[in-house]
Amino acid sequence: MTVGEYKPGLEGIPAAQSSISYVDGQKGILEYRGIRIEELAQQSTFLETAYLLIWGILPTREELKQFEDDIRYHRRIKYRIRDMMKCFPETGHPMDALQASAAALGLFYSRRALANPNYIREAVVRLLAKIPTMVAAFQLMRKGNDPVRPRDDLDYAANFLYMLHEREPDPLAAHIFDVCLTLHAEHTINASTFSARVTASTLTDPYAVVASAVGTLAGPLHGGANEEVITMLEEIGSVENVRPWLDTSLERKTKIMGFGHRVYKVKDPRATCLQGLAEQLFEKFGHDKYYDIAIELEKAVEEKLGHKGIYPNVDFYSGLVYRKMGIPEDLFTPVFAIARVAGWLAHWKEQLDENRIYRPTQIYKGEHGNPYIAIEQR
Ligand code: CMC
Repeated sequence: MTVGEYKPGLEGIPAAQSSISYVDGQKGILEYRGIRIEELAQQSTFLETAYLLIWGILPTREELKQFEDDIRYHRRIKYRIRDMMKCFPETGHPMDALQASAAALGLFYSRRALANPNYIREAVVRLLAKIPTMVAAFQLMRKGNDPVRPRDDLDYAANFLYMLHEREPDPLAAHIFDVCLTLHAEHTINASTFSARVTASTLTDPYAVVASAVGTLAGPLHGGANEEVITMLEEIGSVENVRPWLDTSLERKTKIMGFGHRVYKVKDPRATCLQGLAEQLFEKFGHDKYYDIAIELEKAVEEKLGHKGIYPNVDFYSGLVYRKMGIPEDLFTPVFAIARVAGWLAHWKEQLDENRIYRPTQIYKGEHGNPYIAIEQR
């Protein structure tokens, strides 16, 4: 076997064959199973999109109802999971709480059942159903409150906002939240999805697959950027300060959060959709001055970095949308995870369909033949 050229970050190296989603980074196109993201954002719902991603086809009305009902039925979490989460430090990051809780689900459901035809469906339903409940439960418990029980009369997005805020959400906010989930549900082989596929390839359980993906999503170069965008906009503070701040940041070679993408060399189509959603929210619930700063920053970054293909990515406007909905900043990435579970599960299933364990090679750059030096001689 010949060893190919090393590419840091595996840039341009195919690591899987997949039929789940497609990105054209030059034209700004994202498709899930061949359907443009803009169309799904306008016409589908998150759970229908999750079904499409995982099973490869749009469900019939009956199939969708059954899927939604199954998920509604499994929304509650076991009291032992809840009690375990109660012991987590309230100062801990919610992504760490989510990673630990997702992994803990594996303690309750057998990992030896992969051959059972219902196993994949049951795991999909459980993970889609329980991840939002765990995110909301940690949020309430870290504030010293008891988690609220999911409400069967509310749909997926509305129920999550209800569990988080302990009150029924405004219908527009719930609809926009559902669209946000659709927009974040899948994105080809990014870092967390790669991590999910590598873990899946060992035939471990899907809870470990999701837990490893959550850990990967948490970093500031991946899902964690949405939280950092708000901190950055607050630091800039005013529209007038945008350009001086940007000049200083670029002199210091600091990455501008929410900009740039390995694949997109134009504005991310999800950023365009999210910007539209932000505007709808501001129209109904009042303007946010940080949106003006964001608009000015987008213009300034385009002038300075557009020639390098640096434009807003999905994380640039999502934080402003979530903040207007009253979602705390350190829950932005867990919310991203709630959506991305759909994509991770689709890749888990696809990996199992034609599995071969991931075992790449490396280029050894160390020494050979060194003597062992006894500890007293070092
Ligand atoms: N601000 C300033 N310069 C940038 C940025 C940025 N945000 N992103 C890339 N560049 C420059 C970089 O300095 C480099 O310039 P040069 O060639 O002159 O040295 C060039 O563009 C290529 O950058 P790179 O870091 O090699 O690109 P990458 O493909 O390895 O990294 C990225 C992609 C998303 C990690 C990077 O753009 C970045 O760090 N962005 C900020 C963090 C962020 O917004 N992350 C969210 C990513 S999208 C959602 C997700 O994946 O979860």
